[in-house]
Amino acid sequence: MCADINYKAQSDYVHRLNQLFGNKGSLHLDLACGTGPHIRYFIDNGYQCSGLDINQPMLDLAELRCPEADFMLQNMCEFKVEQPVDIITCFLYSIHYSDGVEKLKSCIASVYAALKQGGVFCFNAVEKNKINNCSIIRHTADYDNSHFVFSSGWNYCGSGEKQSLKLSIEKNTQQVTELWHDEHPMVAISFSELQQLLSPCFEVYMFEHDYDKILPLDARSGNAIFLCVKK
Ligand SMILES: C[S@@+](CC[C@H](N)C(=O)[O-])C[C@H]1O[C@@H](n2cnc3c(N)ncnc32)[C@H](O)[C@@H]1O
Repeated sequence: MCADINYKAQSDYVHRLNQLFGNKGSLHLDLACGTGPHIRYFIDNGYQCSGLDINQPMLDLAELRCPEADFMLQNMCEFKVEQPVDIITCFLYSIHYSDGVEKLKSCIASVYAALKQGGVFCFNAVEKNKINNCSIIRHTADYDNSHFVFSSGWNYCGSGEKQSLKLSIEKNTQQVTELWHDEHPMVAISFSELQQLLSPCFEVYMFEHDYDKILPLDARSGNAIFLCVKK
């Protein structure tokens, strides 16, 4: 499902933001790291990395991809680190996996406690009020004599703090079609609410979701990159 994501461009972009806004340290932690694609590029950019995820099978794959990094099985909404770090990232909108606004607050508090002075927290997020339930991203891949169609789209009912990510996979093998549907519950939040949660502890900057250029967020945009510097 992630075949179209340019992890190198994302990681290089965050590295540039860290050079501009960070404390020049190189200890990095990736929250909800999955199989560690960002961590691979952070290591290649000179960081000493660790990754955290709630699923051990993801961490097993991350360890294979990034043997130089440390990995820990923890919930990002209540995690602790042995040693404070300089930069914390959370990508592919994974911060929305916090189960409700209270858990999101707890995630932000854990991040604050885990960062050194002047350290940065960088993540991407989607604005609940700008979700278009009809907008679906599709891509295809051919693998092992099968043709796959992957689809994903946000869904928000227009009120409350729950949204979901709807996913489907269609697999076609020699005219036999199989179809899987999944729906991930996620926290819904507006950018102004998110800014209010973060601003007591961080200087908050919001950028366009464009990994080629560092651009201030356009008020019409529904996707943003948040860069938060620990006060
Ligand atoms: C969409 S994947 C993103 C993985 C990776 N960040 C990437 O960009 O490829 C979401 C990841 O979040 C993890 N996850 C979900 N809820 C979590 C939680 N509460 N704490 C830590 N990890 C969580 C899942 O196990 C999964 O690996």
